[in-house]
Amino acid sequence: MGQAYRWNARSEQETAQFAGRLAALAGPGTVLALDGDLGAGKTRFAQAFAAGLGVSEVVNSPTFTIIKEYETGRLPFYHMDVYRLSTEEADELGLEEYFEGDGVSLVEWASLIEPLLPEERLRIRIATTGPVSRRFDCMPVGEKYESWCRELGMEPAAEEEA
Ligand SMILES: Nc1ncnc2c1ncn2[C@@H]1O[C@H](COP(=O)(O)OP(=O)(O)OP(=O)(O)O)[C@@H](O)[C@H]1O
Ligand SMILES: [Mg+2]
Repeated sequence: MGQAYRWNARSEQETAQFAGRLAALAGPGTVLALDGDLGAGKTRFAQAFAAGLGVSEVVNSPTFTIIKEYETGRLPFYHMDVYRLSTEEADELGLEEYFEGDGVSLVEWASLIEPLLPEERLRIRIATTGPVSRRFDCMPVGEKYESWCRELGMEPAAEEEA
């Protein structure tokens, strides 16, 4: 495992700022693999990330739709929530077409489908540290995502499971 990084948000607005800065770096084939407990803020982060891409539609939690595509931003945005899926069901969705496509994929509960994820991805675990504060433990896999973390001035953290 590579270097882990950490970002602390003291408010929902700081979460949105962080998501927006990541969105500015995103390109075709970007994959963000999000984890964190119920209510940690995965969807909230995704909404701000989508806004950062310039998505003009309302971004809702895709818990029931599983995959939602938004085409109004700078890049297509593929928002997925695999919480309710078995690995087998997820396998049948053909997710690799999204991951390898021209857009940006953001997966909530990504670790549930770990074997289906591309090798290169930015793993982000969101932890609730207070009523409105969150910690983002980021584990970049691949040189591109490592440089993102450095570029954003993220704090290097001890190597722990992100
Ligand atoms: N700093 C913060 N960052 C993100 N969300 C915050 C923050 N502070 C408070 N919140 C609140 O936490 C909640 C996060 O809910 P959200 O639906 O994004 O969680 P989730 O991780 O997607 O949950 P689920 O696993 O059910 O999909 C929202 O109500 C949001 O307003
Ligand atoms: Mg959610």
